[in-house]
Amino acid sequence: MAPSVLLLLPLLPVLVPGLGAAPPVCDRDPAWLWCRSPDIAAGKAPSPCAHRSPPPAAPVELSLFYESLCPACRMFLVRQLFTAWLLLPPDVLSITLVPYGNAQERNESGKWEFRCQHGPEECLGNMIETCLMHEAKNFSTYFPVIFCLESGSSVTKNLAACLQVYAPQLDGSRIAACVGGDTGAALMHRNAQLTEALDPPHQYVPWVVVNGKHTDELQAQAEASLLGLICSLYQVGSRWERGSNKMDGSGCKQEAPVAAGGGGGAGPGPPLPEPPPYVSWRRPP
Ligand SMILES: *[C@@H]1O[C@H](CO)[C@@H](O)[C@H](O)[C@H]1NC(C)=O
Ligand SMILES: *[C@@H]1O[C@H](CO)[C@@H](O)[C@H](O)[C@H]1NC(C)=O
Repeated sequence: MAPSVLLLLPLLPVLVPGLGAAPPVCDRDPAWLWCRSPDIAAGKAPSPCAHRSPPPAAPVELSLFYESLCPACRMFLVRQLFTAWLLLPPDVLSITLVPYGNAQERNESGKWEFRCQHGPEECLGNMIETCLMHEAKNFSTYFPVIFCLESGSSVTKNLAACLQVYAPQLDGSRIAACVGGDTGAALMHRNAQLTEALDPPHQYVPWVVVNGKHTDELQAQAEASLLGLICSLYQVGSRWERGSNKMDGSGCKQEAPVAAGGGGGAGPGPPLPEPPPYVSWRRPP
């Protein structure tokens, strides 16, 4: 096993300080109730389990269009997306990963050939992750493996080690067969089609689409605090919160130290802080 992968394990508690702590309030309760008020978040209010009848809101849907070797993509995936996914319950956030980005494809006498912004190794990384998703099917199975690849020393050389740590039940040889075969090419062509279908077309990577929408503001919010963005969108979209006339997003501050405002009411919250100086990779002209 590559030592670089082992080094990741101690990293997890650093990324997610709350991991391993006692479950807040009551473990059958959807987390959107924790966000409702600081008292509930702190466990001081009457148990939210007593009134858990309201139906949950639809999950926030996030699609990430990225490239396996682009530094800003790796930073977003590792620091924002993976952390948000770990902290939020599964019914709050639904994620689609599309590794392709600024790659280009060509039909070479009936076979798809791909060229990637960061060269053949990036194409291989995109292909490994695409085939991994295809073989694993289950997001909870493949996302930790992709996190392991993207946060490690090499995106393309650590698959066996990452599988061993995070998904030992997966068969690495099936993934390898997909990577080198027609299945991989067909899946990558699909990624190309999904990327080319973006409206507006992507201008850089990572490119974030939230609930079917991309705007510069959403992108900036996602890069500054994805958890804060998801939390505020999820509450605003909640049928229960809309039905009651009290919309209090302030609890999200308790839940997520990095969250920005949350913003009560139906309108957008207060302005979010400036995003960190991400270096996005522009699409070549
Ligand atoms: C790719 O090229 C081959 C011939 O070179 C052609 O038969 C096939 O229809 C093309 N496929 C697409 C999707 O354009
Ligand atoms: C995916 O995997 C998780 C964790 O192993 C499991 O709890 C969940 O039921 C699985 N989902 C599906 C659709 O198989």
